[in-house]
Amino acid sequence: MANRCLCCEQPIEEEGRYHAKCLKALWGKAVAPKISFAAKDLPEKVTTATDHMSISGVQAKALIRVNKDSGEVEFAPTGSTHILKPEPNEYPGLPAMENVCMITAETLGMNVPPHGLFPMSDGRLCYIVKRFDRMEDGGKIQSETMFQILGATDKYKGSLESVGKAIRTHAENVGLDTIDFFERVILCFLIGNGDMHLKNWAFLIRDKKAALAPVYDFVSSKVYIKRESDTALTINAKGNKLKQADFESLANNLKIDPKAAANSFEKMKNARERFRELAIYSELNPSMRQELEDVMAERFKRLFS
Ligand SMILES: Nc1ncnc2c1ncn2[C@@H]1O[C@H](COP(=O)(O)OP(=O)(O)OP(=O)(O)O)[C@@H](O)[C@H]1O
Ligand SMILES: [Mg+2]
Repeated sequence: MANRCLCCEQPIEEEGRYHAKCLKALWGKAVAPKISFAAKDLPEKVTTATDHMSISGVQAKALIRVNKDSGEVEFAPTGSTHILKPEPNEYPGLPAMENVCMITAETLGMNVPPHGLFPMSDGRLCYIVKRFDRMEDGGKIQSETMFQILGATDKYKGSLESVGKAIRTHAENVGLDTIDFFERVILCFLIGNGDMHLKNWAFLIRDKKAALAPVYDFVSSKVYIKRESDTALTINAKGNKLKQADFESLANNLKIDPKAAANSFEKMKNARERFRELAIYSELNPSMRQELEDVMAERFKRLFS
């Protein structure tokens, strides 16, 4: 059996664990940089005490770049080009989970920054994503999360309708961004990503024009937190027991034409088999692959039958 690429999960014929084109998209050249440190060496661990049961805040992360002389990954508090997330002890396989969840979005044609899995010095894989708020020359692109846009005080308090309203109010391309947002909301439900709080939705702002930022922080949190509700931000005033009518109500609230909403549902429904394959071929261990598949099976069934 051919190796699977640690970025896109598709088979590779060439030597090694990555497609040259995947490495190029992520690093600018077809070489995987070495990481000479492990999770325990990360500069600072951001742990916020919260009684909200979630993956948020638990996961350490580091801003990084590749050192031009050594070709190795280094911490970069300023001038970073990528974000690195190691495997937390509390959530085994989380980097592989984030990688596969980002790929589900990619297969639907969503805007996903280049990402992949890379071994740290202890052999454990970390997840690395390219920053979408930096230009190739290092210049910054303004990014504002919905937490900031809506002037919120609690990232878990709010509705997806209010996020949708912010998109309708500020986005340069309202039609495209609204449908994109709607489909991401459905996708999150289907993969069990229940942790999409106000800081996991953002705008990129260029020349005063706002556009929905690329997909980030897509994880099937439901696999890890069995008692997690369906969605962190409410849909149709509900956080749990969502059904198709609730998503239709959201579409209506977003002024999405019923025909367009039906197209979106159809597109999602057609992704079922591809998602099953993605879970099977992911870098997750066999039991977690099955757990991801089980979550998706329940969600597809609830939404579409
Ligand atoms: N590819 C990216 N490019 C630029 N900024 C990003 C990218 N991915 C994430 N971010 C920013 O970094 C913040 C933290 O990233 P992310 O949400 O992936 O980490 P997290 O630790 O899982 O988050 P949290 O615990 O806050 O939900 C995000 O809120 C977002 O603003
Ligand atoms: Mg986040």
